[in-house]
Amino acid sequence: MLEGLRRLEYRGYDSAGVALVSPEGGAGLVTAKKAGKLANLVGELQERPLPDATAAIGHTRWATHGVPNDLNAHPHVAGSLAVIHNGIVENFATLKAELLADGVEFLSQTDTEVAAHLLARAYADSGDLPSAMRTVARRLEGTFTLLAVHADVPDVVVGARHDSPLVVGLGDGENFLGSDVAAFIAHTRDALELGQDQVVTLGPDEVTVTDFDGAPVQPRRFTVDWDAAAAEKGGFDSFMDKEIHDQPQAVGDTLLGRTDVDGRLVLDDLRIDEAVLRSIDKIVVVACGTAAYAGHVAKYAIEHWCRIPVEVELAHEFRYRDPVVGPRTLVVAVSQSGETMDTLMAVRHAREQGAKVLAICNTYGSTIPRESDAVLYTHAGPEIAVASTKAFLSQITAAYLLGLYLAQLRGNKFPDEIVEIFDQLREMPGRIQQVLDRADHVRKAAREMSDVPSVLFLGRHVGFPVALEGALKLKELAYIHAEGFAAGELKHGPIALIEEGQPVFVIVPSPRGRDSLHSKVISNIQEIRARGARTLVIAEDGDTAVEPFADEVFWVPQCPTLLSPLLATVPLQVFACELATARGLDVDQPRNLAKSVTVE
Ligand code: G6P
Repeated sequence: MLEGLRRLEYRGYDSAGVALVSPEGGAGLVTAKKAGKLANLVGELQERPLPDATAAIGHTRWATHGVPNDLNAHPHVAGSLAVIHNGIVENFATLKAELLADGVEFLSQTDTEVAAHLLARAYADSGDLPSAMRTVARRLEGTFTLLAVHADVPDVVVGARHDSPLVVGLGDGENFLGSDVAAFIAHTRDALELGQDQVVTLGPDEVTVTDFDGAPVQPRRFTVDWDAAAAEKGGFDSFMDKEIHDQPQAVGDTLLGRTDVDGRLVLDDLRIDEAVLRSIDKIVVVACGTAAYAGHVAKYAIEHWCRIPVEVELAHEFRYRDPVVGPRTLVVAVSQSGETMDTLMAVRHAREQGAKVLAICNTYGSTIPRESDAVLYTHAGPEIAVASTKAFLSQITAAYLLGLYLAQLRGNKFPDEIVEIFDQLREMPGRIQQVLDRADHVRKAAREMSDVPSVLFLGRHVGFPVALEGALKLKELAYIHAEGFAAGELKHGPIALIEEGQPVFVIVPSPRGRDSLHSKVISNIQEIRARGARTLVIAEDGDTAVEPFADEVFWVPQCPTLLSPLLATVPLQVFACELATARGLDVDQPRNLAKSVTVE
């Protein structure tokens, strides 16, 4: 159980707990929980080992209701049963008032404890845990995945799924449940996909699934295509460092097997008629965090290659502003996890408006691809570090593939450029490796700057989203002020921030691309240098024009401008990782964050 929780800890690490049923010696239900990272719980269990058990549930928490302390940690107990929960029970106040009026005493401030008490009551009425779970599931509003064990049924775990993820692992004389296959990958790669609004009953030899009304459901079986080693650090100090170094492979895997016998690009799962794709007149990319910056890069590429207008919108803003979308809109949802609730809600809203939805996703069997009309999987392998790195590069790669696919389908204005770009894309993994091979220079600069209070990032064109991502990485990992700007916007305000010694990263576009773009950025560097900034420049090999204005130059190999984010991002990831490490911070699990945010 602890090993499984370790693999899921990236999802939340405010507190951790386990509950198990141990029929031996009449121990019944036993729980242990502890605020803070999983290591605290492990320490506690070393001092106070738990008895052998036949069924167990465990949880790592990312707090929504109630501060992260021991009491609010899951599992929550009511009588002889224990419950863990992901999501938010939105009607918890009403339900809690009802339970309080009936004399129930609460130990925590969580919404989950309400579910535990409701389940205990339903079980007292029916004497059947799965049926009690269905009763509770029908009463709860919001998002929830609930798991429960009861001392009366020592070899059973019952789960309910409504929006928050849940998958089943099929073992030999043992079965597993997890929010992600990583939890049980060391035991089995054989898995079942649970749908929305289903209740699962797990015994050592059988798995039964029904809907919330008790009607049997046949879940889809699948095999996980990566093994436990892919979710290990493999000799690196952190997952973050490992995943930065995985990037040549991740981008290569995203590109793998994308053409059919006629050399045409193929999507993984296309449930959209090609005639519909030819008729779309607008693309809207919806995503959150790093994935949204991949969407920004997609806009530059797709608009240029396909001449279709592309909007990029944060998923949580999209849904609530009554966006103009319809049957001729293609909504592209970008999500590493496939579970980000904000993005999922945007997908649902878009489909309700009649738009077609294509998901760019890294997690097979997750909710967003399942609810979309087409999927492009990024095949980057498991990403464990909370701050995204290889998923970002593979999302950008997938977005290029989508742009090229649409250009091909719709008869493009620049056919030669499309062929050239596709060939160039295949060269990118090797070029990313070259950037990594030169990374010592960035690491040294990061260590020297470990006590700077603020770093700014400037970029134009596709360098702009790279600047935003560079700043986000530094905020997430090092907890220092970092901001990305469009280089041209600087003079309209942010230049006031520049004072003597202020470090500024500048992403310089290729001098071989559009001439004016390169020279405009060189002018921007001069403007900030004249005001005392320390300029750290990311420039293409051979760009001698930039050297006189740079305090440091981090060279990257030459490539077409539109593909350059795949290279220019890498030194910024290395910089953030090294600077945070030098500050003694945990780069894999930065404070307050979680990797899959399954609440809105
Ligand atoms: C969280 C993570 C970010 C990530 C974002 C979107 O906020 O901390 O690193 O970029 O979610 O995640 P997704 O799984 O949808 O790509």
